[in-house]
Amino acid sequence: MKLKALTAMAALLVAPAAFAGGADDDTLVINGEIEMTTKADAPEHMEGTGIDQVISGWHFRADETQQIQMDDFENQGMIFVDQAINTWNTAEGSAGQSCADCHNDPESMAGVTATYPKWNEDAGEVRTVQMQVNDCRVNRMGAEPWPYDAAPAINMEALIASQSRGMPVDVAIDGPAAETWEQGKDIYYTRYGQLELACASCHEENYGNYIRADHLSQGQINGFPTYRLKNAKLNGAHSRFKGCVRDTRAETFATGSPEFVALELYVKSRGNGLSVEGPSVRN
Ligand code: HEC
Ligand code: HEC
Repeated sequence: MKLKALTAMAALLVAPAAFAGGADDDTLVINGEIEMTTKADAPEHMEGTGIDQVISGWHFRADETQQIQMDDFENQGMIFVDQAINTWNTAEGSAGQSCADCHNDPESMAGVTATYPKWNEDAGEVRTVQMQVNDCRVNRMGAEPWPYDAAPAINMEALIASQSRGMPVDVAIDGPAAETWEQGKDIYYTRYGQLELACASCHEENYGNYIRADHLSQGQINGFPTYRLKNAKLNGAHSRFKGCVRDTRAETFATGSPEFVALELYVKSRGNGLSVEGPSVRN
């Protein structure tokens, strides 16, 4: 690490020696029935990163926060999932169709979140779930696209994610997705901003340490969308990336930008093997 970046990290970290603590040993079971894999052997592509076990962000949160995610009646993210069920069943756009008209029950979306972002052959691009939903809205329903990470889009993403809870994340990083994945990896290791910090400076080299009042996790996205106690709504991965880049005092990319789509694919692949948890609960 360059000296300047080292100094920035040292200034940000709160007495790492005194407070450092890795992941806890708690077990995540939702509603007493959905057992989550929250620690897994690191995928092969992470060889050489120094991380041999990938760990859900859930393990780094306080007990009270963890507990909220264990019960759908307490998890306020589920209120937004319910709103999305209404949207799912409501016809919109010039074709007069709803999601349900073509996809039946939301249960038909089981497995989708586990494999997205994903290469779309016809479009010749890697697509996130939100991009695919907007494709259906625009090209099949004749409706307006939803702005990226705005409430209707993120609520629908959470409804779709909730159908995959407990399934292992398994995004493809080879074949036609490889180029996008490499681009995402480059971004992950690029130092941004006045502080010259990369995603890796915090989430690879310093997870388990405290930064201000926050217990640093590996920055996994298997739990997205996340309901944050801080803003009492669902939050998308791109919005979280934006916040993290801003913290390094850098200009950031836009939600839905090709850069963040690539970064989403790369970060998601670092959680291959962890369970889909969305909507999870974080502070
Ligand atoms: C007129 C029919 C139609 C409507 C209405 C429709 N879709 Fe689709 N949707 C499709 C078809 C067909 C595909 C497969 C397209 C493809 O593979 O390129 C698809 C694919 C998808 C996928 C990707 C599934 C996968 O396995 O990769 C998602 C997610 C999705 N739709 C969500 C939605 C949502 C949410 C709505 C409502 C906002 C919606 N769709 C409305 C026809 C529809
Ligand atoms: C200056 C340190 C720092 C940098 C650099 C940084 N983050 Fe973060 N990030 C944090 C902190 C602090 C949190 C909140 C605690 C936690 O979940 O780790 C966080 C949270 C996250 C989360 C939420 C994890 C969860 O389980 O909900 C994701 C995802 C994330 N960061 C991704 C990134 C990505 C991608 C980058 C690079 C673009 C990045 N971060 C750069 C400090 C940083």
